[in-house]
Amino acid sequence: MLKDQDRIFTNLYGMHDRTLKGAQQRGHWDGTDKLIKKGRDWIIDEMKASGLRGRGGAGFPTGLKWSFMPKESDGRPAYLVVNADESEPGTCKDREIMRHDPHTLIEGCLIASFAMNANACYIYIRGEYIREKEALQAAIDEAYEAGLVGKNAAKSGWDFDIYLHHGAGAYICGEETALLESLEGKKGMPRMKPPFPAGAGLYGCPTTVNNVESIAVVPTILRRGASWFAGMGRQNNAGTKLFAISGHVNNPCVVEEEMSISFEELIEKHCGGIRGGWDNLKAVIPGGSSVPCVRGEHMKDAIMDFDYLRGELGSGLGTAAVIVMDESVDIIKAIWRLSKFYKHESCGQCTPCREGTGWMMRVMDRLVRGEAEVEEIDMLFDVTKQVEGHTICALGDAAAWPIQGLIKNFRDEIEDRIKHKRVAVAAE
Ligand code: NAI
Ligand code: SF4
Repeated sequence: MLKDQDRIFTNLYGMHDRTLKGAQQRGHWDGTDKLIKKGRDWIIDEMKASGLRGRGGAGFPTGLKWSFMPKESDGRPAYLVVNADESEPGTCKDREIMRHDPHTLIEGCLIASFAMNANACYIYIRGEYIREKEALQAAIDEAYEAGLVGKNAAKSGWDFDIYLHHGAGAYICGEETALLESLEGKKGMPRMKPPFPAGAGLYGCPTTVNNVESIAVVPTILRRGASWFAGMGRQNNAGTKLFAISGHVNNPCVVEEEMSISFEELIEKHCGGIRGGWDNLKAVIPGGSSVPCVRGEHMKDAIMDFDYLRGELGSGLGTAAVIVMDESVDIIKAIWRLSKFYKHESCGQCTPCREGTGWMMRVMDRLVRGEAEVEEIDMLFDVTKQVEGHTICALGDAAAWPIQGLIKNFRDEIEDRIKHKRVAVAAE
Protein backbone atom coordinates (compact mmCIF):
# COMPACT_ATOMS: atom_id res chain seq x y z
CA MET A 1 0.00 0.00 0.00
CA LEU A 2 1.36 3.39 -0.98
CA LYS A 3 2.30 5.80 1.82
CA ASP A 4 1.19 9.40 1.41
CA GLN A 5 4.79 10.64 1.42
CA ASP A 6 5.56 8.37 -1.57
CA ARG A 7 2.91 9.86 -3.80
CA ILE A 8 4.20 11.53 -6.96
CA PHE A 9 0.93 13.04 -8.14
CA THR A 10 0.09 15.07 -5.07
CA ASN A 11 -2.57 17.05 -6.91
CA LEU A 12 -4.30 14.13 -8.59
CA TYR A 13 -7.74 15.26 -7.52
CA GLY A 14 -7.16 18.96 -8.12
CA MET A 15 -7.33 19.84 -4.45
CA HIS A 16 -4.42 22.23 -4.71
CA ASP A 17 -3.35 25.05 -6.94
CA ARG A 18 -2.23 23.65 -10.32
CA THR A 19 -0.44 26.85 -11.36
CA LEU A 20 3.34 27.20 -11.32
CA LYS A 21 3.23 28.72 -7.84
CA GLY A 22 1.27 25.77 -6.47
CA ALA A 23 3.47 23.26 -8.27
CA GLN A 24 6.60 24.86 -6.82
CA GLN A 25 5.10 24.73 -3.34
CA ARG A 26 4.66 20.98 -3.84
CA GLY A 27 8.33 20.60 -4.80
CA HIS A 28 8.21 20.64 -8.58
CA TRP A 29 10.89 22.59 -10.47
CA ASP A 30 13.11 22.38 -7.39
CA GLY A 31 16.78 22.14 -8.43
CA THR A 32 15.95 21.03 -11.99
CA ASP A 33 19.17 22.64 -13.20
CA LYS A 34 21.20 20.56 -10.74
CA LEU A 35 19.61 17.35 -12.00
CA ILE A 36 20.44 18.32 -15.58
CA LYS A 37 23.99 19.26 -14.70
CA LYS A 38 24.59 15.72 -13.46
CA GLY A 39 24.67 14.79 -17.12
CA ARG A 40 22.99 12.57 -19.66
CA ASP A 41 24.62 9.31 -18.63
CA TRP A 42 23.67 9.82 -15.00
CA ILE A 43 20.03 10.51 -15.88
CA ILE A 44 19.71 7.51 -18.19
CA ASP A 45 21.48 5.22 -15.71
CA GLU A 46 19.15 6.36 -12.93
CA MET A 47 16.12 5.75 -15.11
CA LYS A 48 17.36 2.27 -15.92
CA ALA A 49 18.05 1.55 -12.25
CA SER A 50 14.60 2.79 -11.23
CA GLY A 51 13.02 -0.07 -13.18
CA LEU A 52 10.37 2.22 -14.67
CA ARG A 53 8.46 0.44 -17.41
CA GLY A 54 6.51 2.50 -19.93
CA ARG A 55 3.09 3.51 -18.62
CA GLY A 56 1.38 3.73 -22.03
CA GLY A 57 0.45 0.05 -21.99
CA ALA A 58 3.31 -1.98 -23.41
CA GLY A 59 5.61 -1.72 -20.36
CA PHE A 60 8.85 -1.35 -22.32
CA PRO A 61 11.71 -0.27 -19.97
CA THR A 62 11.93 3.53 -20.18
CA GLY A 63 15.67 3.97 -19.45
CA LEU A 64 16.52 1.33 -22.04
CA LYS A 65 14.37 3.09 -24.63
CA TRP A 66 16.18 6.37 -23.95
CA SER A 67 19.53 4.65 -24.38
CA PHE A 68 18.65 3.78 -28.00
CA MET A 69 18.92 7.47 -28.91
CA PRO A 70 22.25 8.50 -30.49
CA LYS A 71 24.71 9.76 -27.87
CA GLU A 72 26.19 12.33 -30.22
CA SER A 73 24.31 14.31 -32.83
CA ASP A 74 24.81 13.04 -36.38
CA GLY A 75 23.59 16.34 -37.76
CA ARG A 76 19.91 15.49 -37.44
CA PRO A 77 17.89 17.05 -34.62
CA ALA A 78 16.54 14.67 -31.97
CA TYR A 79 13.01 14.84 -30.58
CA LEU A 80 11.02 13.79 -27.57
CA VAL A 81 7.37 13.17 -28.37
CA VAL A 82 4.94 12.74 -25.51
CA ASN A 83 1.98 10.56 -26.30
CA ALA A 84 -1.01 12.24 -24.66
CA ASP A 85 -3.46 10.74 -27.12
CA GLU A 86 -5.05 8.73 -24.34
CA SER A 87 -7.85 6.82 -26.06
CA GLU A 88 -7.81 3.25 -24.81
CA PRO A 89 -11.37 2.52 -23.61
CA GLY A 90 -11.44 2.72 -19.81
CA THR A 91 -8.26 4.79 -19.63
CA CYS A 92 -8.36 8.29 -18.15
CA LYS A 93 -5.24 8.56 -15.99
CA ASP A 94 -3.09 10.91 -18.14
CA ARG A 95 -6.08 13.21 -18.30
CA GLU A 96 -5.83 13.72 -14.54
CA ILE A 97 -2.11 14.55 -14.73
CA MET A 98 -2.65 17.13 -17.45
CA ARG A 99 -5.64 18.63 -15.68
CA HIS A 100 -4.21 18.89 -12.22
CA ASP A 101 -0.44 18.35 -12.23
CA PRO A 102 0.75 19.71 -15.60
CA HIS A 103 4.03 21.12 -14.31
CA THR A 104 5.45 17.76 -13.33
CA LEU A 105 4.92 16.68 -16.95
CA ILE A 106 6.61 19.79 -18.36
CA GLU A 107 9.57 19.45 -15.99
CA GLY A 108 9.85 15.78 -17.01
CA CYS A 109 9.83 16.82 -20.68
CA LEU A 110 12.78 19.14 -20.12
CA ILE A 111 14.87 16.56 -18.25
CA ALA A 112 14.06 13.69 -20.61
CA SER A 113 14.73 15.83 -23.68
CA PHE A 114 18.08 16.91 -22.30
CA ALA A 115 18.97 13.26 -21.57
CA MET A 116 18.23 12.39 -25.19
CA ASN A 117 19.94 15.39 -26.74
CA ALA A 118 16.62 16.83 -27.92
CA ASN A 119 16.07 20.57 -27.99
CA ALA A 120 12.40 20.17 -28.84
CA CYS A 121 9.49 18.22 -27.46
CA TYR A 122 6.04 17.74 -28.95
CA ILE A 123 3.12 16.76 -26.78
CA TYR A 124 0.39 15.16 -28.91
CA ILE A 125 -2.85 15.50 -26.98
CA ARG A 126 -6.09 13.70 -27.72
CA GLY A 127 -8.60 15.73 -29.76
CA GLU A 128 -11.36 15.34 -27.18
CA TYR A 129 -9.16 16.66 -24.36
CA ILE A 130 -10.08 20.32 -24.67
CA ARG A 131 -9.90 21.39 -21.01
CA GLU A 132 -6.69 19.41 -20.56
CA LYS A 133 -5.19 21.14 -23.57
CA GLU A 134 -6.06 24.51 -22.05
CA ALA A 135 -4.60 23.56 -18.66
CA LEU A 136 -1.42 22.23 -20.20
CA GLN A 137 -0.98 25.19 -22.54
CA ALA A 138 -1.46 27.60 -19.63
CA ALA A 139 1.24 25.73 -17.70
CA ILE A 140 3.59 25.78 -20.71
CA ASP A 141 3.05 29.53 -21.05
CA GLU A 142 3.83 30.01 -17.37
CA ALA A 143 6.97 27.91 -17.70
CA TYR A 144 8.15 30.02 -20.65
CA GLU A 145 7.47 33.23 -18.76
CA ALA A 146 9.42 32.01 -15.75
CA GLY A 147 12.38 30.93 -17.91
CA LEU A 148 11.89 27.27 -17.01
CA VAL A 149 11.64 26.34 -20.67
CA GLY A 150 12.99 28.22 -23.68
CA LYS A 151 16.56 29.46 -23.96
CA ASN A 152 18.82 28.31 -21.10
CA ALA A 153 15.85 26.44 -19.66
CA ALA A 154 15.69 26.59 -15.85
CA LYS A 155 19.24 28.02 -15.96
CA SER A 156 20.53 24.63 -17.01
CA GLY A 157 22.43 25.87 -20.04
CA TRP A 158 20.11 23.79 -22.28
CA ASP A 159 17.85 25.41 -24.89
CA PHE A 160 14.50 23.68 -24.98
CA ASP A 161 11.19 24.31 -26.72
CA ILE A 162 7.92 22.54 -26.12
CA TYR A 163 4.93 22.41 -28.46
CA LEU A 164 1.42 21.18 -27.80
CA HIS A 165 -0.29 19.54 -30.76
CA HIS A 166 -4.01 18.85 -30.64
CA GLY A 167 -5.13 15.59 -32.32
CA ALA A 168 -8.37 15.19 -34.24
CA GLY A 169 -9.96 12.25 -32.46
CA ALA A 170 -8.60 9.12 -34.14
CA TYR A 171 -7.74 6.23 -31.80
CA ILE A 172 -5.05 4.96 -34.15
CA CYS A 173 -3.07 8.19 -33.73
CA GLY A 174 -2.15 6.92 -30.26
CA GLU A 175 -0.04 4.25 -31.94
CA GLU A 176 3.40 5.84 -31.83
CA THR A 177 4.26 5.78 -35.52
CA ALA A 178 0.75 6.82 -36.60
CA LEU A 179 1.15 9.68 -34.15
CA LEU A 180 4.40 10.70 -35.83
CA GLU A 181 2.73 10.60 -39.25
CA SER A 182 -0.08 12.75 -37.92
CA LEU A 183 2.39 15.23 -36.39
CA GLU A 184 4.04 15.49 -39.80
CA GLY A 185 0.68 16.50 -41.22
CA LYS A 186 -0.13 13.19 -42.88
CA LYS A 187 -2.91 10.63 -42.43
CA GLY A 188 -2.42 8.81 -39.11
CA MET A 189 -1.34 5.42 -40.41
CA PRO A 190 1.16 3.24 -38.53
CA ARG A 191 4.60 2.62 -40.02
CA MET A 192 6.36 -0.71 -40.18
CA LYS A 193 8.83 -1.26 -37.31
CA PRO A 194 11.82 -1.53 -37.45
CA PRO A 195 13.09 1.04 -37.88
CA PHE A 196 12.03 2.08 -34.38
CA PRO A 197 11.60 5.81 -33.78
CA ALA A 198 15.02 6.13 -32.12
CA GLY A 199 16.55 5.34 -35.52
CA ALA A 200 14.06 7.14 -37.74
CA GLY A 201 11.17 8.92 -36.05
CA LEU A 202 9.72 12.39 -36.49
CA TYR A 203 10.79 13.81 -39.89
CA GLY A 204 13.14 10.82 -40.14
CA CYS A 205 15.11 12.00 -37.10
CA PRO A 206 15.96 10.19 -33.84
CA THR A 207 12.84 10.32 -31.69
CA THR A 208 11.61 8.82 -28.47
CA VAL A 209 7.87 8.51 -27.90
CA ASN A 210 6.86 8.22 -24.27
CA ASN A 211 3.55 8.19 -22.44
CA VAL A 212 2.51 11.17 -20.23
CA GLU A 213 2.76 9.24 -16.95
CA SER A 214 6.19 7.82 -17.89
CA ILE A 215 7.57 11.33 -18.36
CA ALA A 216 5.73 12.94 -15.45
CA VAL A 217 7.32 10.59 -12.90
CA VAL A 218 10.88 11.34 -14.07
CA PRO A 219 11.64 14.45 -11.94
CA THR A 220 10.53 12.76 -8.71
CA ILE A 221 12.47 9.59 -9.48
CA LEU A 222 15.63 11.62 -10.04
CA ARG A 223 15.10 13.76 -6.95
CA ARG A 224 14.33 10.87 -4.62
CA GLY A 225 16.66 8.36 -6.26
CA ALA A 226 16.25 5.29 -8.41
CA SER A 227 16.38 2.95 -5.42
CA TRP A 228 13.39 4.69 -3.82
CA PHE A 229 11.26 3.99 -6.90
CA ALA A 230 12.70 0.51 -7.43
CA GLY A 231 11.91 -0.30 -3.78
CA MET A 232 8.17 -0.22 -4.44
CA GLY A 233 6.28 -3.05 -6.15
CA ARG A 234 7.82 -6.38 -7.09
CA GLN A 235 10.98 -7.09 -9.02
CA ASN A 236 10.58 -6.04 -12.67
CA ASN A 237 7.35 -4.27 -11.73
CA ALA A 238 8.63 -1.26 -9.84
CA GLY A 239 7.25 1.97 -8.56
CA THR A 240 3.93 3.67 -8.21
CA LYS A 241 1.19 3.48 -10.80
CA LEU A 242 -1.99 5.30 -11.67
CA PHE A 243 -4.98 2.97 -11.81
CA ALA A 244 -8.22 4.12 -13.48
CA ILE A 245 -11.01 2.00 -12.01
CA SER A 246 -14.39 2.12 -13.71
CA GLY A 247 -17.56 0.07 -13.92
CA HIS A 248 -19.40 -1.69 -11.13
CA VAL A 249 -17.49 -0.57 -8.07
CA ASN A 250 -19.11 1.66 -5.51
CA ASN A 251 -16.71 4.53 -6.12
CA PRO A 252 -15.01 4.60 -9.53
CA CYS A 253 -11.78 6.63 -9.40
CA VAL A 254 -8.27 7.27 -10.64
CA VAL A 255 -5.75 6.59 -7.92
CA GLU A 256 -1.99 6.37 -7.49
CA GLU A 257 -0.97 3.16 -5.78
CA GLU A 258 2.06 0.98 -5.30
CA MET A 259 2.60 -1.37 -8.22
CA SER A 260 1.77 -4.99 -7.37
CA ILE A 261 -1.02 -4.06 -4.97
CA SER A 262 -3.61 -6.82 -4.78
CA PHE A 263 -6.82 -6.32 -6.72
CA GLU A 264 -8.88 -6.81 -3.57
CA GLU A 265 -6.98 -4.13 -1.67
CA LEU A 266 -7.17 -1.72 -4.60
CA ILE A 267 -10.93 -2.10 -4.83
CA GLU A 268 -11.67 -2.15 -1.11
CA LYS A 269 -9.38 0.72 -0.19
CA HIS A 270 -10.20 3.12 -2.98
CA CYS A 271 -13.49 2.09 -4.55
CA GLY A 272 -15.60 1.06 -1.57
CA GLY A 273 -15.86 -2.51 -2.85
CA ILE A 274 -17.74 -4.19 -5.67
CA ARG A 275 -21.34 -3.13 -6.26
CA GLY A 276 -23.46 -5.80 -4.55
CA GLY A 277 -20.41 -7.46 -2.94
CA TRP A 278 -17.65 -9.76 -4.15
CA ASP A 279 -20.05 -12.59 -5.03
CA ASN A 280 -21.56 -10.24 -7.57
CA LEU A 281 -18.28 -9.81 -9.47
CA LYS A 282 -18.50 -11.38 -12.91
CA ALA A 283 -15.51 -10.23 -14.93
CA VAL A 284 -12.67 -7.72 -14.99
CA ILE A 285 -10.67 -6.22 -17.82
CA PRO A 286 -7.60 -5.25 -15.81
CA GLY A 287 -5.64 -3.14 -18.30
CA GLY A 288 -7.82 -1.26 -20.76
CA SER A 289 -9.83 -2.73 -23.60
CA SER A 290 -6.85 -4.29 -25.43
CA VAL A 291 -6.22 -6.99 -22.84
CA PRO A 292 -8.34 -10.14 -22.35
CA CYS A 293 -11.05 -10.17 -19.69
CA VAL A 294 -10.67 -12.39 -16.63
CA ARG A 295 -13.36 -14.21 -14.64
CA GLY A 296 -14.19 -12.46 -11.39
CA GLU A 297 -13.23 -15.36 -9.15
CA HIS A 298 -9.67 -15.32 -10.56
CA MET A 299 -9.25 -11.62 -9.89
CA LYS A 300 -9.82 -11.37 -6.16
CA ASP A 301 -6.31 -12.56 -5.28
CA ALA A 302 -4.67 -11.08 -8.36
CA ILE A 303 -1.58 -8.92 -8.09
CA MET A 304 -1.86 -5.80 -10.18
CA ASP A 305 1.34 -5.75 -12.18
CA PHE A 306 2.68 -6.59 -15.65
CA ASP A 307 4.10 -10.02 -14.88
CA TYR A 308 1.33 -11.44 -12.71
CA LEU A 309 -1.56 -10.43 -14.93
CA ARG A 310 0.13 -11.71 -18.06
CA GLY A 311 1.90 -14.75 -16.61
CA GLU A 312 -0.76 -16.05 -14.22
CA LEU A 313 -4.00 -14.86 -15.79
CA GLY A 314 -3.18 -14.56 -19.50
CA SER A 315 -4.29 -10.93 -19.45
CA GLY A 316 -2.17 -7.81 -18.89
CA LEU A 317 -1.68 -4.60 -16.92
CA GLY A 318 -1.83 -2.54 -20.13
CA THR A 319 -2.78 1.01 -19.20
CA ALA A 320 -4.01 -0.12 -15.75
CA ALA A 321 -7.54 0.86 -16.70
CA VAL A 322 -9.46 -1.58 -14.55
CA ILE A 323 -12.96 -2.21 -15.93
CA VAL A 324 -15.11 -4.02 -13.39
CA MET A 325 -18.26 -5.86 -14.47
CA ASP A 326 -20.83 -7.35 -12.15
CA GLU A 327 -23.36 -10.12 -12.78
CA SER A 328 -25.77 -7.72 -14.49
CA VAL A 329 -23.42 -7.50 -17.48
CA ASP A 330 -24.00 -9.34 -20.71
CA ILE A 331 -20.33 -10.19 -21.21
CA ILE A 332 -20.79 -11.33 -24.80
CA LYS A 333 -22.36 -7.99 -25.65
CA ALA A 334 -19.66 -6.10 -23.77
CA ILE A 335 -16.92 -7.75 -25.85
CA TRP A 336 -19.00 -7.32 -29.02
CA ARG A 337 -19.02 -3.58 -28.27
CA LEU A 338 -15.22 -3.62 -28.19
CA SER A 339 -15.15 -5.50 -31.49
CA LYS A 340 -17.29 -2.77 -32.98
CA PHE A 341 -14.89 -0.16 -31.64
CA TYR A 342 -11.80 -1.81 -33.14
CA LYS A 343 -13.49 -2.32 -36.47
CA HIS A 344 -14.38 1.36 -36.53
CA GLU A 345 -10.87 2.48 -35.54
CA SER A 346 -8.87 0.19 -37.87
CA CYS A 347 -6.97 2.38 -40.33
CA GLY A 348 -7.56 -0.25 -43.01
CA GLN A 349 -3.95 -0.38 -44.13
CA CYS A 350 -3.33 -4.10 -43.69
CA THR A 351 -5.63 -6.90 -44.78
CA PRO A 352 -5.82 -9.10 -41.64
CA CYS A 353 -6.92 -6.12 -39.56
CA ARG A 354 -9.12 -4.40 -42.15
CA GLU A 355 -10.98 -7.59 -43.07
CA GLY A 356 -10.52 -9.47 -39.79
CA THR A 357 -12.02 -6.79 -37.54
CA GLY A 358 -15.18 -6.75 -39.70
CA TRP A 359 -15.32 -10.52 -39.74
CA MET A 360 -14.89 -10.83 -36.00
CA MET A 361 -17.47 -8.17 -35.31
CA ARG A 362 -20.07 -9.82 -37.52
CA VAL A 363 -19.63 -13.23 -35.87
CA MET A 364 -19.70 -11.54 -32.45
CA ASP A 365 -22.91 -9.84 -33.48
CA ARG A 366 -24.50 -13.24 -34.12
CA LEU A 367 -23.10 -14.68 -30.90
CA VAL A 368 -24.76 -11.88 -28.93
CA ARG A 369 -28.08 -12.84 -30.46
CA GLY A 370 -27.40 -16.57 -30.01
CA GLU A 371 -27.80 -17.05 -33.74
CA ALA A 372 -24.41 -18.60 -34.49
CA GLU A 373 -23.62 -22.29 -34.60
CA VAL A 374 -21.58 -23.77 -31.73
CA GLU A 375 -18.86 -24.71 -34.24
CA GLU A 376 -18.43 -21.05 -35.06
CA ILE A 377 -16.93 -20.43 -31.65
CA ASP A 378 -13.79 -22.35 -32.61
CA MET A 379 -13.84 -20.78 -36.04
CA LEU A 380 -13.95 -17.31 -34.48
CA PHE A 381 -11.06 -18.23 -32.19
CA ASP A 382 -9.14 -19.37 -35.25
CA VAL A 383 -9.81 -16.06 -37.00
CA THR A 384 -8.44 -14.15 -34.00
CA LYS A 385 -5.27 -16.25 -34.29
CA GLN A 386 -4.99 -15.35 -37.98
CA VAL A 387 -5.16 -11.66 -37.10
CA GLU A 388 -2.92 -11.75 -33.99
CA GLY A 389 0.70 -11.07 -34.83
CA HIS A 390 0.02 -10.62 -38.53
CA THR A 391 -0.59 -6.91 -38.74
CA ILE A 392 1.52 -3.75 -38.97
CA CYS A 393 0.53 -2.41 -35.56
CA ALA A 394 -0.89 -3.66 -32.29
CA LEU A 395 -4.50 -2.75 -33.15
CA GLY A 396 -4.92 -6.14 -34.79
CA ASP A 397 -3.82 -7.88 -31.57
CA ALA A 398 -5.99 -5.54 -29.54
CA ALA A 399 -9.04 -6.55 -31.58
CA ALA A 400 -8.22 -10.26 -31.27
CA TRP A 401 -7.35 -10.55 -27.57
CA PRO A 402 -10.69 -9.50 -25.97
CA ILE A 403 -12.47 -12.15 -28.08
CA GLN A 404 -9.91 -14.77 -27.13
CA GLY A 405 -10.44 -13.84 -23.47
CA LEU A 406 -14.19 -14.15 -23.89
CA ILE A 407 -13.97 -17.59 -25.50
CA LYS A 408 -11.43 -18.90 -23.00
CA ASN A 409 -13.28 -17.62 -19.95
CA PHE A 410 -16.94 -17.54 -20.90
CA ARG A 411 -17.38 -20.27 -23.49
CA ASP A 412 -20.11 -21.83 -21.34
CA GLU A 413 -22.13 -18.63 -21.56
CA ILE A 414 -21.80 -18.40 -25.35
CA GLU A 415 -22.85 -22.03 -25.81
CA ASP A 416 -25.70 -21.55 -23.40
CA ARG A 417 -27.04 -18.63 -25.38
CA ILE A 418 -26.94 -20.56 -28.64
CA LYS A 419 -28.68 -23.52 -26.97
CA HIS A 420 -31.42 -21.37 -25.44
CA LYS A 421 -32.03 -19.57 -28.68
CA ARG A 422 -32.50 -22.95 -30.38
CA VAL A 423 -34.94 -24.03 -27.69
CA ALA A 424 -36.80 -20.74 -27.97
CA VAL A 425 -37.02 -20.96 -31.78
CA ALA A 426 -38.15 -24.63 -31.61
CA ALA A 427 -40.89 -23.70 -29.14
CA GLU A 428 -42.30 -20.97 -31.41
P1 NAI B 1 5.27 -2.24 -28.47
O1 NAI B 1 5.54 -3.33 -27.52
O2 NAI B 1 5.42 -2.50 -29.93
O3 NAI B 1 6.29 -1.03 -28.17
C1 NAI B 1 6.41 -0.41 -26.94
C2 NAI B 1 7.51 0.64 -27.02
O4 NAI B 1 8.78 0.02 -27.01
C3 NAI B 1 7.47 1.46 -28.30
O5 NAI B 1 7.85 2.78 -28.00
C4 NAI B 1 8.50 0.81 -29.20
O6 NAI B 1 9.09 1.71 -30.11
C5 NAI B 1 9.52 0.34 -28.17
N1 NAI B 1 10.20 -0.88 -28.62
C6 NAI B 1 9.68 -2.14 -28.60
N2 NAI B 1 10.59 -3.01 -29.07
C7 NAI B 1 11.69 -2.29 -29.38
C8 NAI B 1 12.97 -2.64 -29.92
N3 NAI B 1 13.28 -3.88 -30.23
N4 NAI B 1 13.86 -1.64 -30.11
C9 NAI B 1 13.54 -0.37 -29.81
N5 NAI B 1 12.35 0.04 -29.29
C10 NAI B 1 11.44 -0.92 -29.09
O7 NAI B 1 3.84 -1.69 -28.14
P2 NAI B 1 2.99 -0.47 -28.71
O8 NAI B 1 2.37 -0.83 -30.00
O9 NAI B 1 3.78 0.79 -28.67
O10 NAI B 1 1.87 -0.35 -27.58
C11 NAI B 1 0.88 -1.33 -27.44
C12 NAI B 1 0.16 -1.11 -26.13
O11 NAI B 1 -0.36 0.20 -26.09
C13 NAI B 1 -1.03 -2.02 -25.91
O12 NAI B 1 -0.61 -3.14 -25.18
C14 NAI B 1 -2.01 -1.17 -25.15
O13 NAI B 1 -2.03 -1.55 -23.80
C15 NAI B 1 -1.46 0.22 -25.24
N6 NAI B 1 -2.43 1.20 -25.72
C16 NAI B 1 -2.55 2.33 -24.98
C17 NAI B 1 -3.43 3.31 -25.33
C18 NAI B 1 -3.60 4.51 -24.46
O14 NAI B 1 -4.59 5.23 -24.60
N7 NAI B 1 -2.67 4.76 -23.53
C19 NAI B 1 -4.23 3.20 -26.56
C20 NAI B 1 -4.04 1.97 -27.26
C21 NAI B 1 -3.15 1.01 -26.85
FE1 SF4 C 1 -4.04 -0.14 -39.58
FE2 SF4 C 1 -5.09 -2.25 -38.30
FE3 SF4 C 1 -2.96 -2.55 -39.81
FE4 SF4 C 1 -2.76 -1.18 -37.49
S1 SF4 C 1 -3.22 -3.35 -37.70
S2 SF4 C 1 -1.86 -0.64 -39.47
S3 SF4 C 1 -4.80 -0.21 -37.49
S4 SF4 C 1 -5.00 -1.91 -40.52
